[in-house]
Amino acid sequence: MENNVQNQLKSIKDSAIKDFTKAQSTAELYNFKVQYLGKSGALTEAMKLMAALPKEDKPLFGKLVNEVKAELETVYFDIESKIKNKEIDAKMQNEKLDLSFSAASFPLGHEHPIFKVTNEIVSIMSRLGYSLRTGPLIEKDYYNFEALNIPPNHPARDMQDTFFVDESHVLRTHTSPIQIHSLENEKPPLRIIGTGSVFRCDSDISHLPNFHQIEGMCVDEKVSMADLKGTISFFVKEFFGPNLKTRFRPSFFPFTEPSAEVDCSCPICKGKGCSLCKQSGWIEIGGCGLINPKVFEFAKIPYPQWQGFAFGFGIERMAIIKYGVDDIRHFPKNDIRFLNQF
Ligand code: PHE
Repeated sequence: MENNVQNQLKSIKDSAIKDFTKAQSTAELYNFKVQYLGKSGALTEAMKLMAALPKEDKPLFGKLVNEVKAELETVYFDIESKIKNKEIDAKMQNEKLDLSFSAASFPLGHEHPIFKVTNEIVSIMSRLGYSLRTGPLIEKDYYNFEALNIPPNHPARDMQDTFFVDESHVLRTHTSPIQIHSLENEKPPLRIIGTGSVFRCDSDISHLPNFHQIEGMCVDEKVSMADLKGTISFFVKEFFGPNLKTRFRPSFFPFTEPSAEVDCSCPICKGKGCSLCKQSGWIEIGGCGLINPKVFEFAKIPYPQWQGFAFGFGIERMAIIKYGVDDIRHFPKNDIRFLNQF
């Protein structure tokens, strides 16, 4: 083979090694690699000389080119790893970690005020032996009304503006159907609380079409209005504070007899009169009463062997009173500026 060709390969190799050695960074080194070993680099160009060689010289030439290529690659990787180590050392010197630097903070979520109030009520009542029940949001007319002694076409239905799903199903208008499910499926004595979303066609500064209730029911062998009042007074003191008074006003619910509306002395003005309690000193929190024997009849629970009381409170209302919120519509908005105050 012509010496000339061999010399040409040798000079490519020498100059490549010289350039590789003088590279200061991996980027510079890579550029040299492309220059010599790349697709249109010097070595690939040298391959073209093969065409002009006599046939018997071609294999030897091919072998030589491959040897040069392999050698250059070895040199390349060797130098590359040295430069990389140097670069890492330099980085370690210049970019020292400040271990005292605090991590980026990100906001943590927390319970919605409605669930905070719900959980607090559940925990207070559990200390009196009550345990939690839930029920479906879409109820049969029977559970929402009939079994609670509210017959079809009865004027008592007007007390609760109802969303009908179809002729025999409604979005439950209160949590009282949970009482019926419990009476049907469990054996007295019973102390249960039911809670969750309820729905009524109603919307203004103090009414939402979708709000939350909490319901209590106690069924035992001897249950009186005194037990009911004692239970609610205990609950109000635990929830709002020890100095609050509770009062019962005679009222009407088809599923309780006698029935009462529950007021507590206004926790904001302590009974003196303010805008929240409309200067009366009292705030209504819900309804209650002794379970109507008709309800026991529907649920096939023998009365008077078993007797009971029940009460139902609006959770948004309790939250408004407890936290002094001026508009019930803040609760479902999920404005973070409102929620972060709880
Ligand atoms: N379910 C009634 C309502 O939503 C409240 C209530 C519950 C009254 C239990 C008495 C007993 O208006």
